[in-house]
Amino acid sequence: MYNINNILRENIKNLTPYSSARDEYQGEASVFLDANENAYGSPLDQQFNRYPDPLQYKVKMRLSEIKGVPARNIFIGNGSDEAIDILFRSFCNPGVDNVIIVPPTYGMYQVSANINDVEARKVLLTEDYQLNLEGIAEAIDKNTKLIFICSPNNPTGNSINREDVETLLANFNGLVIVDEAYINFSRQKTFIQELTEYANLVVLQTLSKAWGLAGLRIGMAFASEEIIEVMNKVKPPYNVNESSQQLALEALANVDQVNGWIRETLLQRDRLVLAIKEFEFVLDIYPSDANFILVKTTDANGIYDFLVNKGIIVRNRSKVELCEGSLRITVGTPEENTILLDTLKTFK
Ligand SMILES: Cc1ncc(COP(=O)(O)O)c(C=O)c1O
Repeated sequence: MYNINNILRENIKNLTPYSSARDEYQGEASVFLDANENAYGSPLDQQFNRYPDPLQYKVKMRLSEIKGVPARNIFIGNGSDEAIDILFRSFCNPGVDNVIIVPPTYGMYQVSANINDVEARKVLLTEDYQLNLEGIAEAIDKNTKLIFICSPNNPTGNSINREDVETLLANFNGLVIVDEAYINFSRQKTFIQELTEYANLVVLQTLSKAWGLAGLRIGMAFASEEIIEVMNKVKPPYNVNESSQQLALEALANVDQVNGWIRETLLQRDRLVLAIKEFEFVLDIYPSDANFILVKTTDANGIYDFLVNKGIIVRNRSKVELCEGSLRITVGTPEENTILLDTLKTFK
């Protein structure tokens, strides 16, 4: 049976978190002499001399409306990469515990594991990029704390079968992390709806993709209140800066504009697939639920170098297991996609 106390690191269980000046005082006041800030202001038009809200209350309230999840079930990080790292630091004892990753998948799970000195046990996806549930079951032992599933998956673009993820959630005693960075482009339902069903579920999302805010570094984790409390305890006190919080709040009012871009991206994705599959050097294009496509070619290095020479950068994934010969191409604007297609026509 999953129980957070069985998987939490002892030092984190006993941790007294840093108490910031703003944590210690709440209410109305006009003179703030508690945080060693510069009381005179900032040498800018906009004032940033005060520390930001450590728990990003306003942004969470807006996210709560959009996602239909109470704010107490939301963690905000400096990108979802920070949420990934905090999960390692909260639940995995360095040199002792392990996690399961299912390559080919997003590279930061492995890097975060390495940084935290945690073994990442690899269970390759199947040939059709789905979970090998038997392999995962064999890899799990008493020190397995986390399983990372990316759906839609980067770099393959497909969604992972929902029932398989549910099987893991129902049977694994650690946390199942479902990274939904690309969910806005997907035909599949988000796993956020399952939070009330599975206490060991963590859903990651980000404002870096469909929301067009990669430069602000805002990532979210949705999970039970007890998991969110742990993550808030472990995070740096002011992990999301004031200008990012303000701009995110402003951007989150523009849902219609973002939905328009998502529709356009999906049309452009279809256009790219139809055109690219006609090229002689293309062996396969995998069905994508994301804003990129994985294209298997006869000569990934040759095409990659050719495109670089023309000032077009795609991602060469040909060295990644199960992605041999493949390029990952992000869907661009209609004009960018035209440039890409016209250039590919001239590849010999
Ligand atoms: C699957 C996946 N998760 C997370 C991230 C990182 O997101 P963020 O910008 O919020 O750190 C990426 C970025 O490429 C990604 O592909």
